[in-house]
Amino acid sequence: MPSDRPTSAARPADGAHPRLVDRAPTISAAEIVAHLTPPRQFADATADSYRPDPDYPSQQEAVEAVRGFGAPQERRRGLFRRRAEPDAPPGLYLDGGFGVGKTHLLAALWHATPGRRYFGTFIEYTALVGAAGYAGAVQQLSGAALLCIDEFELDDPGDTRIMSRLLAELVRGGTRVAATSNTPPNALGEGRFAAADFLREIDALAAQFDTLRIDGLDYRRRSTEGHAVALDARGLDRAVAAVSGTVTVDRFDDVVAHLASVHPSRYVRMVEGLDAVALEDVRMLTSQTDALRLVAFVDRLYDAQVPVLASGTPLDEVFAPDMLAGGYRKKYLRAASRLIALTGARSAG
Ligand SMILES: Nc1ncnc2c1ncn2[C@@H]1O[C@H](COP(=O)(O)OP(=O)(O)O)[C@@H](O)[C@H]1O
Ligand SMILES: [Mg+2]
Repeated sequence: MPSDRPTSAARPADGAHPRLVDRAPTISAAEIVAHLTPPRQFADATADSYRPDPDYPSQQEAVEAVRGFGAPQERRRGLFRRRAEPDAPPGLYLDGGFGVGKTHLLAALWHATPGRRYFGTFIEYTALVGAAGYAGAVQQLSGAALLCIDEFELDDPGDTRIMSRLLAELVRGGTRVAATSNTPPNALGEGRFAAADFLREIDALAAQFDTLRIDGLDYRRRSTEGHAVALDARGLDRAVAAVSGTVTVDRFDDVVAHLASVHPSRYVRMVEGLDAVALEDVRMLTSQTDALRLVAFVDRLYDAQVPVLASGTPLDEVFAPDMLAGGYRKKYLRAASRLIALTGARSAG
């Protein structure tokens, strides 16, 4: 439990709502490590509660791979011997589209694994290296039975190299690694960084993983159909008034500017303890940098299942068409799908 509140702002005395832009938390290495557990909504995820779609056999295969990955060696020699044995890589990599249950299965693996284990997004692990230094991060994580990395992203060749080194070192120490992404490891970074040493890095990383592609439809498709809910000004006021608990109210442009001044690894604490976030006058973004920061922020809202109330442009339309056509397309589509769920999720809890 962090002892200090994530915000430096006292609640305004006049009854006005707190603002996101007044929340500029710092986060220590110890707090990052303490937070390396599955998000709240996956607290009960198990392999048994994953219902494979019979139309997509790769889903059944994925559950078996997850069960087999956690099981001791003897049990793995039976009926479900995996194709890669006996020299199975120490890592399992689940690749697939949105909503096929990758995070669910990763959390299930985490819950089922005895011993010390960690669960975090790629950005949380790089933030740990940032806060503790490389040697410090190795020291904190080494000896763990399992390291889960959700949404492996290789946007930055420097981060990739560090993560690749870190994983190799932990694996040598006996740690097993499981990761998810929307792109298989040998295609990560493709079209973005062409440097030969970067590609070699990715190959070295890929060799550590047994890659499994999960096909299927978005399990949440019912809640992600259509558009993010956009209210008018009065509707937004009413919705804010109806929130029981803490709701921040900000102009969208102010939040976009604020996100540039807070390191993305701290967004997790910006949203901590919030029951809703209200954004006024949402508009389409024109800067890719702003858009990528918003994606990281949306991921944290989604992990914490913080409902979003908004006016202006529907939030799934904030990413300009030229951005959607570029190298980060999948990220933007994921964020849009999450925003649709978060703006519509108020009654669903
Ligand atoms: N086959 C499934 N059976 C049960 N729940 C599922 C299944 N697939 C997804 N879910 C649920 O749907 C939601 C989205 O799944 P998630 O694991 O976040 O997908 P992904 O990480 O692949 O985008 C989660 O609440 C998850 O528990
Ligand atoms: Mg996921």
